[in-house]
Amino acid sequence: MSLEDKNILISGSSRGIGYEMAKYFAEICGSMVIVCSRHLENAKKVSEIINGKTYPIELDVTNINNINYSIADILGKFGKIDILINNAGYRFDKKIWYKKLHEIENDRFMEIINVDLMGSVRLSKAVIKQMIKNENEKDNTKKGGVIINISSTPALSGHIEGSPYTIAKSGVIGLTKHIAREYGIYNIRAYTLALGNISTDATYFSMDNKHKSIAEEETSLKRWGKPEEVAKIASHLASNDFSYSTGNTIIIDGGTIMI
Ligand SMILES: NC(=O)c1ccc[n+]([C@@H]2O[C@H](COP(=O)([O-])OP(=O)(O)OC[C@H]3O[C@@H](n4cnc5c(N)ncnc54)[C@H](OP(=O)(O)O)[C@@H]3O)[C@@H](O)[C@H]2O)c1
Repeated sequence: MSLEDKNILISGSSRGIGYEMAKYFAEICGSMVIVCSRHLENAKKVSEIINGKTYPIELDVTNINNINYSIADILGKFGKIDILINNAGYRFDKKIWYKKLHEIENDRFMEIINVDLMGSVRLSKAVIKQMIKNENEKDNTKKGGVIINISSTPALSGHIEGSPYTIAKSGVIGLTKHIAREYGIYNIRAYTLALGNISTDATYFSMDNKHKSIAEEETSLKRWGKPEEVAKIASHLASNDFSYSTGNTIIIDGGTIMI
């Protein structure tokens, strides 16, 4: 698996799963990682902690001008983006999460769709434009690229809470399939990672013990997943080891949903 000459953009890499992926790709795979946060100083802090090639940028996936500016900046500096991971996610908001579908105001609904689904659509569109052109001039081969979209198991199973999240994360699966079908001809591959309970500050570390063990018990492996376990799978998908697989959803949930 060689990812050393790859440039990888990971949205929402200031903390949690995005941060671990940035660290893994930079430190273990030797890739050049574009570290993203809505606040440049946070992206810079993370870049300083990671012991590898990184470039910090300010990126808000709801802001198209910011996206266009950032992509132009990256291309100006590094010439290409080989791998995109759409990881940025709307913060957990219990005021929305526990409301029934019919009780959630449309504006609040759209706020989540705007980050979790449309954020991935916006960034994919901007990056695909360049991946299409990403040909190897020497031998005319299509280098293309890889797009990994972070979804969640409720997108497969449904859930009794958090309907805007489920709906947004279901849309992400459709986005992956479209990218795979429409851009396979350019050697652009796409995958969805449907995550179960992965311990981050937003989940495990902000829960009470009762809810932690409920989540643990529902898995076959009887434990929470670690962000670096997600990073390892993402790195394999991004590598040429997966050169003849595209469009599919990989479930990372300790064996809760099996299809
Ligand atoms: N942890 C889990 O158990 C789990 C399970 C299923 C799916 N997921 C998904 O995995 C992803 C990461 O989850 P996590 O637990 O690591 O979440 P997290 O710790 O809350 O991190 C979320 C990241 O998204 C960024 N972000 C938020 N709004 C943004 C916006 N408008 N534009 C750009 N970046 C934005 C944040 O960056 P700044 O605040 O610095 O801008 C942060 O880096 C999310 O898509 C989440 O839905 C997580």
